[in-house]
Amino acid sequence: MVGKKVIITGVPGVGKTTVVTEALKKLKQEGIEYQSINFGTFMFDVAKADGTVNDRDQMRTLDRTVQKRLQQRAAQEIAKIPGNVLIDTHASVKTPKGYLAGLPEWVLREIMPDLIVLVETEDDQILMRRLSDDTRSRDKEGSKAIAEHQQFNRAIAAAYSMLTGCTIKMITNADFLLDRAADEMAAVLR
Ligand code: AP5
Repeated sequence: MVGKKVIITGVPGVGKTTVVTEALKKLKQEGIEYQSINFGTFMFDVAKADGTVNDRDQMRTLDRTVQKRLQQRAAQEIAKIPGNVLIDTHASVKTPKGYLAGLPEWVLREIMPDLIVLVETEDDQILMRRLSDDTRSRDKEGSKAIAEHQQFNRAIAAAYSMLTGCTIKMITNADFLLDRAADEMAAVLR
């Protein structure tokens, strides 16, 4: 059986990893399995081995050409994974020199996703989640900048759909409503 390739995106701190974890627990009870992959971890492993960075939050400040090479290496490795694969990544990455496409043509050509999910919520909620997360070096930005990033992600997702023929699904992960988001995520993964 040919597996499904699903890409999960959302601005940092929106809670995409949390929603995916809950959705996969629900699906496991029904005997549906996905291998969950973090694209940033694949990039980071290569960058660390090369001695380019020693913190995953430094990657988005690297030169564009270096980030592109890391993306390409990650996509090639991920493309080899058989079965249902869920890829936790970014529709776009905010770099000091502007937005970088998270899924440029050379990444999409390797992965050819069936579906891209955009996890979203209100900008203020994302801001609060970032401020209360001490484990990461989150970008310091206000809710207006977060709103712009979420809008940009919708726009670029339309281009990804044009390139691959995949569908695009928006899921809201609102405060206190994680279970609803996980149910919606599980429904599109079935
Ligand atoms: P990555 O590690 O994926 O960065 P990230 O976006 O910061 O991902 P996180 O998993 O930390 O955040 P999340 O949104 O999943 O939130 P979480 O579930 O933790 O990537 C690292 C780096 O890799 C990137 O910066 C980039 O440089 C690079 N990279 C990755 N992909 C790339 C690509 N394609 N191209 C180029 N570079 C790429 O939740 C956050 C918090 O919210 C938690 O405290 C959680 O408890 C809380 N929360 C979640 N849901 C709720 C809710 N419903 N209500 C209340 N609180 C909630």
